Amino acid sequence: MIQLFHLFKNFGANVALQDISLRVRKGEFVFVTGPSGAGKTTLLRLMFGAEKPTSGHILINGINLNRIGRKKLDLLRRKVGFVFQDFKLLTGRTVFENVALALEVRGERPSYVRKKAHLALRSVGLVKKEQSYPLQLSGGEQQRVAIARAIVNDPLVLLADEPTGNLDPDLTREIMLLFRTIHMKGTTVVVATHSRELLQETAQRQVILNRGRLIGEK
Ligand SMILES: Nc1ncnc2c1ncn2[C@@H]1O[C@H](COP(=O)(O)OP(=O)(O)O)[C@@H](O)[C@H]1O
Ligand SMILES: [Mg+2]
Repeated sequence: MIQLFHLFKNFGANVALQDISLRVRKGEFVFVTGPSGAGKTTLLRLMFGAEKPTSGHILINGINLNRIGRKKLDLLRRKVGFVFQDFKLLTGRTVFENVALALEVRGERPSYVRKKAHLALRSVGLVKKEQSYPLQLSGGEQQRVAIARAIVNDPLVLLADEPTGNLDPDLTREIMLLFRTIHMKGTTVVVATHSRELLQETAQRQVILNRGRLIGEK
């Protein structure tokens, strides 16, 4: 599903990733861990095609990101959902609109958009809040909206960067449960986190980064 071959990423003189080779299989759940500055965010952004590697190759579903143009990259990105630590919701739009917009920009039919947005919000338990605005919700609820937005198009892969970084322990557990449910339905899930607490409670695969290098696995 995701294959990385000898990936390097520099930002000027700053080396963010060094010689990362990694394979994430279809339907896997993987944590990317390591201290702040280890390269987790950079790795996820590369997997999303939001950054280009300095050298090395990234294959998503067998497609080499280096070798495809803008249009094909956009099409491929539709199959990858991304969840951020700070939610990145549009505060001037309702919960429903935030989720629906992800499909509207793709030119989907209004009836289809309504149905899918509703289903996505149902799967994160937020149907009752559809007409609320993000800032009327708790942090945990806002992150659930962001997750609904990320899964509304049935992605093959869901990438989440410190998704519980702004949440307290109870909400963290709730959000992790949601990722597990999404994973059970067949989606490949990659979660980046520096949180030791989060990892103590899991039996999932962990890929450990330090200073841009892959230093081990658990
Ligand atoms: N856009 C950027 N410009 C310059 N340096 C960056 C940029 N993004 C990340 N870095 C550097 O790359 C390294 C890895 O950062 P990052 O991927 O954010 O790590 P993590 O998410 O594990 O905290 C850090 O040294 C960081 O300063
Ligand atoms: Mg980060």
